[in-house]
Amino acid sequence: MCGIVGILGKEAVATQVVEALRRLEYRGYDSAGVATLENGLLTRRRAEGKLRNLEIRLSNEPLEGLIGIGHTRWATHGKPNETNAHPHATAKLAVVHNGIIENFRELRAELQSDGYVFATETDTEIVAHLVTRELDRGKSPTDAVAASLPRLRGAFALAFLFQGEEDLLIGARKGSPLAVGIGDGEMYLGSDALALAPFTNLIAYLEEGDWVVLHRKSATFYDKANNPVERRAQRVAAGALLVEKGNHRHFMAKEIYEQPEVVGHTLTQYLDMAAGRVRLPFADKIDWTSLSRLSIAACGTSYYAGLIAKYWFERLARLPVEIDVASEFRYREAPLPDNGLALFISQSGETADTLACLRYARQERQVISAIVNVATSTMARESDVVAPTLAGPEIGVASTKGFTCQLAALACLALAAARARGHLSAEDEARHVQNLIALPGLMANALALEPQIEKLARELSKAKDVLYLGRGTSFPLALEGALKLKEISYIHAEGYPAGELKHGPIALIDEAMPVIVVAPHDALFEKTASNMQEVAARGGRIILITNAKGAAECGIEPETTIIMPDVDPTFAAIVYALPIQMIAYQTAVFMGKDADQPRNLAKSVTVE
Ligand code: F6R
Repeated sequence: MCGIVGILGKEAVATQVVEALRRLEYRGYDSAGVATLENGLLTRRRAEGKLRNLEIRLSNEPLEGLIGIGHTRWATHGKPNETNAHPHATAKLAVVHNGIIENFRELRAELQSDGYVFATETDTEIVAHLVTRELDRGKSPTDAVAASLPRLRGAFALAFLFQGEEDLLIGARKGSPLAVGIGDGEMYLGSDALALAPFTNLIAYLEEGDWVVLHRKSATFYDKANNPVERRAQRVAAGALLVEKGNHRHFMAKEIYEQPEVVGHTLTQYLDMAAGRVRLPFADKIDWTSLSRLSIAACGTSYYAGLIAKYWFERLARLPVEIDVASEFRYREAPLPDNGLALFISQSGETADTLACLRYARQERQVISAIVNVATSTMARESDVVAPTLAGPEIGVASTKGFTCQLAALACLALAAARARGHLSAEDEARHVQNLIALPGLMANALALEPQIEKLARELSKAKDVLYLGRGTSFPLALEGALKLKEISYIHAEGYPAGELKHGPIALIDEAMPVIVVAPHDALFEKTASNMQEVAARGGRIILITNAKGAAECGIEPETTIIMPDVDPTFAAIVYALPIQMIAYQTAVFMGKDADQPRNLAKSVTVE
């Protein structure tokens, strides 16, 4: 999660760029850099480490340009040194990037075979060369960007500066945030509005897939099909900037939309993306080989993340997992194996029941590990091994990005365990890592389903009860879907393993009962399809969440089919969580409920 800035100013902009970067330093501080045009020529200053180092460089070698871009880096591909620091440049342009370009390897090979020479290990440099190739073919900067963006897979925000173009910046977003600040004859780009607060509070946000062409006196927005679109600028109150909702009505919506970025950010902590390997920062603290069992305890949504991970640990690493809701585990007096590993999952790191389990496991001499989103929380402090999720503050009471970031961290842990226990070849590890790297981009694609889900929500809002079904990792997702719907729309919902339907709940099925089936086309799809037929035969209203192949092969005509992007089945739950969350959110909003602060709930449950 890096921070990017662009400024079209009236005076030298380097100082302002650094000022904006300081406000984005929370997004990363492995290195920083600025590029400006000095008499029309691209000039860069970059420095390893914190922003302070860049400032020192700039005070020794100042930049005078009236247009510039800047970057503060959180390394994903390549070491955090000066060579890999942004902006990345060719003879014709400079670019800064936040996010992950998933298909960088194939694009790099393609560009290299066209004679383009790479100087860094980063995924970003391929963007610089890709657009340069279009310029070399005679395109204008705007046309070159328009032609290049569709080639990029992944999640990203970009800002471009072109040699000789004193009045042009181009920005683009897919899955990572980007705001445009409108000044008086000046224009700004920033990863968030807070970065731009010293210069302007008139802010327009790029929507998913948008790109923008900025001149000092105009901002022209285009959607992903390159059609000009209007993105209204709004005044953002200074106080609101600290925890802003951007274009969104609720924090929950904003947090749902942040997922491609924060999941990418979380993954980069546990993966060496350039090498295609899992690399846990605490690898030496867990001896996966000697474990006979992993014990997991958590509450609510975090518990469901653990349930999904149980499938991964058991299938990939052949590691038996015992998992329980913390309020049960704490009084169960469960015998724990000698030198066992206990894992606690908590967004807040403060949940009373989970913390009590952690202390019980400590007494039982377990190695204590925790996946937490708050790095300073009690659970983090009391654990031997802490695996942070980098979801950022979650304001909406119903957990969304916290959940998918937990899953991202758990997926990496399961792969590390599988590798250490000898159940995963280097080749399979590389394949799984590539599939994980693809997730943020696929999540960004899944967000495009929102208009269809909005329509579905109108129908669901009339229901009194809703059933969610799934098999394999889609079963805990069914539980999570039901929990999300209950807690924010107050519609009664239940999640069931699809195969369990005929052992009781099928009695509930009638024409009034929506049944939401989570079924990516995986090894269990056919079984789930049979269960759907059982529901259809009894007049049940099926809402199917699947991919194109699943839709073609389900053998029934669901009332609604939500067609997801194709995701490798192993970690598909991380992408399928998004429609589940959007269904609950849109239903609650349509019913006029407060999605951010549902009744009777609290964000951090520190009582029993
Ligand atoms: C539901 C939700 C809760 C929490 C649960 C545990 O949307 O957010 O079920 O998951 O209260 O909280 P943490 O993860 O902070 O331990």
